Amino acid sequence: MNAKKHWDDIAPSYNAEIFDVFNSDRKKILNKYFNKYANKKHSAIDFGCGNGKAFPYLAPRFKTIIGVDISQGLLNQAKELPYKNIVLKQADLTRSARLPQTDFIFCCNVAILSTVEGNLALLKNISKALKNSGSALIVIPSLESMIFSAWRMIDWYQKEKVKPEKIDRSEFSGFTNAQTDILQGLVSIDGVTTKHYTSQEIEIIFPRCGLQVSVVDKIEYDWSSEFASPPRWMTEPYPWDWLVSCSKLSS
Ligand SMILES: C[S@@+](CC[C@H](N)C(=O)[O-])C[C@H]1O[C@@H](n2cnc3c(N)ncnc32)[C@H](O)[C@@H]1O
Repeated sequence: MNAKKHWDDIAPSYNAEIFDVFNSDRKKILNKYFNKYANKKHSAIDFGCGNGKAFPYLAPRFKTIIGVDISQGLLNQAKELPYKNIVLKQADLTRSARLPQTDFIFCCNVAILSTVEGNLALLKNISKALKNSGSALIVIPSLESMIFSAWRMIDWYQKEKVKPEKIDRSEFSGFTNAQTDILQGLVSIDGVTTKHYTSQEIEIIFPRCGLQVSVVDKIEYDWSSEFASPPRWMTEPYPWDWLVSCSKLSS
């Protein structure tokens, strides 16, 4: 897939099409973590900033911010936002992006690429762009959450007396990739192969990419993020993304 073309094509309808993590974060946990890392003397990079949804959170908390994205269409939207301490840069973050080393990196649902290598390259570039004392907050989709949502749906059908084998296969369209892809978390969201992570995998691959994991937390969302009309009884546990708090691994 040509990532630049893909995201430039989505850019005009980005707000309608792409899930908004910030507005959907049920417990506003992102705010808590942003406050933990906030420092008006520090620099930050928003790795894969899209059209700037994180800027209202980053701009007041850091001295300077670089927003980097592969899509010029999304950067053009971000440019319209009224923040004076943010500069924008177009770059492919799986390649050498020539970024200055920074104190803090935020990267929200960008390491979701359809190839294992692409995601590893991106995570390595996060480590490379951090100062030795630097920290990162990385949001990535949870494979456990996706499987749990599928179980929740089967359970819901069963409550309505529909056996699992009678459920229309289109309900499982997320799991139509090759077995070896699914087992590596390469599942399909709206027809696009999207990397999902298990918490255990995070503990293994982040250090391989030069990132020391300190906390793996959950950003929880309402069930409406998974189903068009979830029933009222469908409450906790809610679906989630992983929020990985990490620092540069000392070499
Ligand atoms: C799901 S969006 C998330 C955007 C933003 N972080 C947010 O949370 O609103 C994924 C973003 O990653 C960017 N992206 C995808 N592949 C990239 C790459 N190789 N280098 C830089 N940005 C990339 C896309 O252009 C898009 O803005």
